[in-house]
Amino acid sequence: MVEKVAGADMKIFPSIENAFLLMNKGVIESFGSMTDLKKESLNYIEEVNCAGKFVLPAFCDSHTHIVYAGSREAEYVDRINGLSYEEIALRGGGILNSAKKLNAATEDELYNAALARINECIAQGTGAIEIKSGYGLSIEGELKMLRVIKKLKENLPVPVKATFLGAHAFPQEYKSTPEKYIDVLINEMMPVIEQEKLADYCDVFCERNYFTPAQTIRILEAGKKHGMKPKVHANQLSLSGGVQAGVQAEAVSVDHLEYVEEAEIIALQHSETMPTILPGAQIFLQLPHPPARKMIDAGLPLAIASDYNPGSSPTGNMSLMIALSCMLYKLTPEEAFNAATLNTAYAMDMQKRMAAFPKEKLPM
Ligand code: NIG
Ligand code: FE
Repeated sequence: MVEKVAGADMKIFPSIENAFLLMNKGVIESFGSMTDLKKESLNYIEEVNCAGKFVLPAFCDSHTHIVYAGSREAEYVDRINGLSYEEIALRGGGILNSAKKLNAATEDELYNAALARINECIAQGTGAIEIKSGYGLSIEGELKMLRVIKKLKENLPVPVKATFLGAHAFPQEYKSTPEKYIDVLINEMMPVIEQEKLADYCDVFCERNYFTPAQTIRILEAGKKHGMKPKVHANQLSLSGGVQAGVQAEAVSVDHLEYVEEAEIIALQHSETMPTILPGAQIFLQLPHPPARKMIDAGLPLAIASDYNPGSSPTGNMSLMIALSCMLYKLTPEEAFNAATLNTAYAMDMQKRMAAFPKEKLPM
């Protein structure tokens, strides 16, 4: 089974003209050309005429921070007035601002707000979603976020994957003793997370002023021991070494990638890690474009996700992410559809359910 597409193959997004698709209780039973539709399958209950339309696979959104308390619109104004994302963070804004709001919110408030946002994403075509913690940055706050995500997992009609991102930023009180905070992540949070089965992945923001590559690897390796697969926020603001750290830890994906050069491309070529771009954060923070075209031309796979969060990407609209990738990074529509469906499914271990188009169904 094809589980991801890379390089020149990304230009192939097979389709069938004049097709049928049979669904049973929300699951696709079969599909193919109308001429192959068997008479005996015609006792369906409901028929939807899609003449003149595309029927596409649902989008998988493999990177979101959709559980949060309150918005951070004032920071958008700060940026208009000339402050950078990093300068706002150094003043205690950014992620720490979200942490302050989250620690004051109840589980119910967080759950209801996230549910409304996710329902909007589902209406816009998202069929599976990954959700990170990382706005708690305290034992209670991180566990509260992860329990909210677990409840969303239990109640939503779409698959949800949970990611522990306690290593999103250093809380103010640990700024001068960062290793102590990492000890808390590993020794106090991870055992509870494992015991309550709260997370599928462990993620780290590997960036200057955040977590170094060595700290990233230490956290990811500890996460593995507690049953969490690695992911990395990598190379968003600098050549941080995050891509190499992710490859070394055999991360499922490395995400952001605004700063990618030859060494990062070579590292990824020798890995199973899915490079994932987040056009929302790139455009809202006005960062350099990730070299998406160059990466695909170097034979790499590429995934696209929304990074829905209150500080750098206030939207989970995957169609918009596809459009931005085509217009800004010169992906073809076929490449962008592969990136936002099969490849982003791979980035959240959903590729077996989001299987590639079977060869026998390909139009000759
Ligand atoms: O993926 N880059 C780090 N983390 C988030 C943003 C978090 C925030 O600003 O709230 C991101 O863009
Ligand atoms: Fe993120």
